[in-house]
Amino acid sequence: MTILILGSGGREHTFAWKVNQSQLCDTIFVAPGNSGTAQIATNVAIKVTDFEAIKSLVIEHNIEMVVVGPEDPLVQGIHDFFLNDEQLKHVAVIGPQKAAAELEGSKEFAKEFLFRHNIPTAAYESFDASNVADGYKFLETLNPPYVLKADGLAAGKGVLILNDLNEAKTELKSMLVDAKFGTASSKVVIEEFLDGIELSCFVLTDGKNYKILPTAKDYKRIGEGDTGLNTGGMGAISPVPFATDEFLNKIEERIVKPTISGLQKDNLPYKGFVFIGLIKVGDDPKVIEYNVRMGDPETEVVLPRLKNDLVEIFQAIANQTLDTIDIEIDERAATTVMLVSGGYPEAYEKGKEITGLENIEDSIAFHAGAHLKDGKTLTSGGRVMAITSYGNTYQEAIKKSYQNIDQLHFDKMNYRKDIGFDL
Ligand code: AMP
Ligand code: GLY
Repeated sequence: MTILILGSGGREHTFAWKVNQSQLCDTIFVAPGNSGTAQIATNVAIKVTDFEAIKSLVIEHNIEMVVVGPEDPLVQGIHDFFLNDEQLKHVAVIGPQKAAAELEGSKEFAKEFLFRHNIPTAAYESFDASNVADGYKFLETLNPPYVLKADGLAAGKGVLILNDLNEAKTELKSMLVDAKFGTASSKVVIEEFLDGIELSCFVLTDGKNYKILPTAKDYKRIGEGDTGLNTGGMGAISPVPFATDEFLNKIEERIVKPTISGLQKDNLPYKGFVFIGLIKVGDDPKVIEYNVRMGDPETEVVLPRLKNDLVEIFQAIANQTLDTIDIEIDERAATTVMLVSGGYPEAYEKGKEITGLENIEDSIAFHAGAHLKDGKTLTSGGRVMAITSYGNTYQEAIKKSYQNIDQLHFDKMNYRKDIGFDL
């Protein structure tokens, strides 16, 4: 079968790497892809939200399955676009339909879903430009820190956590009235602050059945010791050592089951990955957010631990026979460390040559913001490459990632040297 993967990050290189191992797939296209996917697939320079161009590609190459990496095309309704098109409706799309993708597309929608289905999460209220003063009053009832979330997609930047009440009020006004995050902040969710350690749970669903994938923890801040600006993610570890069987059982009973049954009750068609961002408060899991896709760089540690044929799983999702699949997980730990361009997540330079890739031993380099030019691998984004390793413990795995990173170089290369420091 011929499969198209949409996206260009480390997540999509990992999807391509895993799909490439399947007997069921003979040809892989990635749009737009990167230097890593170019080694195992055909990259096509099409934007993930250009549905008409994607349609032409799918028809031209008889593509039978489309795996959607990032959230944008899902929130814009790519799955519905396929279902509503006579020439495309037979194609399996891995990713929820538009109505369900609102779980990531709108924080308010997600909070309403969580409360409707009694799933543990932070208390909240939402506000728009017509009731800013009510927002100030609500803030006065809360204890610091104050959590303000732009309702819509804001490229991971739409959440502010502030210690000072006046600053929180100023930011609320700037989001609602001055469109700090554009239309994404025309509504703002204000939440109770939850104090605890975060982890992520990944669930596959065909809309009826579900399977839980390994947990992972990512490191979002740019600086060591979890300091500095938020990034897309600087590294990840799977499994999460503090997620005991008892804790995982709570996640399944209190969060995963009501989420999947909630999707059905609310008529939200979902065939794909559910990424549940969790926080452990005391001994209890609470939901911080839903994403309607896999995480990046979490994918770079979760998929390497999955022993199953991923295409077989995707087919079962498309056919709603996920209950017939037994998920098999590698017992080993997996870790990944993201190499980033100096300056990221603020301004950074591109086009730097990456050298030493041929020296990597016993780790996998999943390319992200990197592309091929004249036989060279050049940086093209902030997050450049994720170096994944296995180990009997996460400490052993992370050591291997760092040993291999010592072999790699590009001008102003930066990475966190403390992934796993808090475990
Ligand atoms: P989100 O985009 O909703 O994942 O939020 C980004 C980050 O903000 C999360 O990964 C958490 O670290 C933090 N965060 C979000 N909501 C809360 C909350 N209610 N309490 C504490 N931290 C939060
Ligand atoms: N690493 C966090 C995310 O993919 O949203």
